[in-house]
Amino acid sequence: MPYAHITGWGMSVPAHVLTNDDLSKMVDTNDAWIREMTGIRERRIAAENETTSTLGADAALKALTVANVSPDDVDLIICSTSTPEYLFPATACLIQDQLGASKAGAFDLLAACSGFIYGLNMAAQAIKSGSAKTVLVIGTETLSRFVDWKDRSTCILFGDGAGAFVVQASEQPGGIFGGVMHSDGSGGDSLLLPAGGSKHPASDLTVHTGMHFIRMNGKEVFRFATRVMAKATLDAAEASGWKPEEIDLVVPHQANLRIIDAAARGLKMPLDKMIINLDRYGNTSTASIPLATVEAVEGGRIKPGDKLVFVGFGAGLTWGALAVQWTGPLPTDRKVNLKQNYLWARSRSIYRRIGRIIEGILWGRNA
Ligand SMILES: CC(C)(COP(=O)(O)OP(=O)(O)OC[C@H]1O[C@@H](n2cnc3c(N)ncnc32)[C@H](O)[C@@H]1OP(=O)(O)O)[C@@H](O)C(=O)NCCC(=O)NCCS
Repeated sequence: MPYAHITGWGMSVPAHVLTNDDLSKMVDTNDAWIREMTGIRERRIAAENETTSTLGADAALKALTVANVSPDDVDLIICSTSTPEYLFPATACLIQDQLGASKAGAFDLLAACSGFIYGLNMAAQAIKSGSAKTVLVIGTETLSRFVDWKDRSTCILFGDGAGAFVVQASEQPGGIFGGVMHSDGSGGDSLLLPAGGSKHPASDLTVHTGMHFIRMNGKEVFRFATRVMAKATLDAAEASGWKPEEIDLVVPHQANLRIIDAAARGLKMPLDKMIINLDRYGNTSTASIPLATVEAVEGGRIKPGDKLVFVGFGAGLTWGALAVQWTGPLPTDRKVNLKQNYLWARSRSIYRRIGRIIEGILWGRNA
């Protein structure tokens, strides 16, 4: 059975920074309160021309570059997001088109802030079963589009961004080991986006009552998160045959510094074994774990051979953890030219669209 290795990584965040002081001009809040209660200093906000798919595709392209893998070699794209561009088509398909990943299947996965862990686990299972050799896992969000900027209890928390990993098959031992995935739908109303789905389709009422914005019971989510993080981390390590003391670093979902601190205490680990970057990005939901990982790898904190546990929780309620021995790019003599590939992907997409228009003219739109 092949092993599933993380061989490429990339991140993409909007340039626009919204600081706590900026927020204090929009709602009744202040920098001291936000820092003390959450640990967040600033977050990134997508520009008008940036979307969930453009951020995701940018992160994916960087991950492919690190792995030295051509988009044509990707068998499957799993895009984890709670802020898809449409209910359908899947954002994964929009990214597939932007990358020109011509042979890839593509689908979205919704497990909120636990989504990247679920997606990585699914990628590893596809590789271990032999059904895929190269999988792109992307976590991407534009939460700022769903935040009520008048609600100080939620708007201080969230930010936009994307992260991506390339997962590849190899006979070398290592990579993604055991994991756990959990859910408890009885807590679904603790954190939700009430309207826009089939239960409450968009209407004047849903718009006027703010049902298209994120709603959250902060205290309930806080209690839930502090209960599950440490246990899930230990369960993932145990499922991989690792003793707790073998864990080199934990990459937790970046929601709140106090939640991460509680998890570290539950694990009897010093806080410096936790990778933390929420001060600069806020809670980017499913993008937070890859964003934190990419920065830690690029900063030299995560090295090949390190034993890591990714652990997250979120709406659903969902939670999960995954044990990973860090790898890095697989050796190859090939050098892919992703810039050229990207231009080719754009032309191919335009060509296909024109082809459809011509087909429509020739055969009639209804044929
Ligand atoms: C959001 C969170 C920081 C709020 O902390 P809390 O202890 O629950 O705070 P409360 O909402 O009870 O508010 C405490 C006080 O601060 C005030 N307050 C709330 N938001 C504020 C803000 N942004 N700025 C200043 N004051 C604020 C409240 O009005 C309240 O004031 P009062 O005591 O005079 O009534 C915390 O609940 C949390 O982090 N929960 C988890 C959320 C999360 O991680 N969600 C994503 C999951 S993926």
